[in-house]
Amino acid sequence: MNVLFVCLGNICRSPTAEGVFRELVREARLEAGFRIDSAGTGGWHAGELPDPRMREAARRRGYVLESQARQVRVDDFHSFDWILAMDRTNLAELERRRPSDGKAELRLFRDFDPEPGDREVPDPYYGGDEGFEEVMDIVERTSRAFLASLRRSDG
Ligand code: 4NP
Repeated sequence: MNVLFVCLGNICRSPTAEGVFRELVREARLEAGFRIDSAGTGGWHAGELPDPRMREAARRRGYVLESQARQVRVDDFHSFDWILAMDRTNLAELERRRPSDGKAELRLFRDFDPEPGDREVPDPYYGGDEGFEEVMDIVERTSRAFLASLRRSDG
């Protein structure tokens, strides 16, 4: 199963989802069955580590975020089974770029959020520390629910 998480800059939300989901897969001893990555619809931060505020919020919960930002590529639509967008703007951009023969299933990440309400992960980049904590809360529970959903449909 190949899963790609996508946000705008690939330095806040999607690298967090990548790191948290990878840890859950590792705890479940399923890492041999997964390829997990993240990317941005924008390329301005390519090559950078995640934002220091995001890395710190993740570190406090035991996750080490050390991916290098990259932009989404056309071959991602062929090589991933799932492409999960952090908000509707990025989902629309992915749908626009998707080649007609792309196999990946495009969805909002928060379609798997077990809690009712907003279906977008709010962009924390221009806000305060509480925004990064909120991203952690959303990403932890939604990643758990996404993995449980994959395991159910696998069984
Ligand atoms: P992300 O957050 O999409 O969650 O990585 C952002 C990072 C950078 C910018 C916007 C959002 N930016 O405008 O540079």
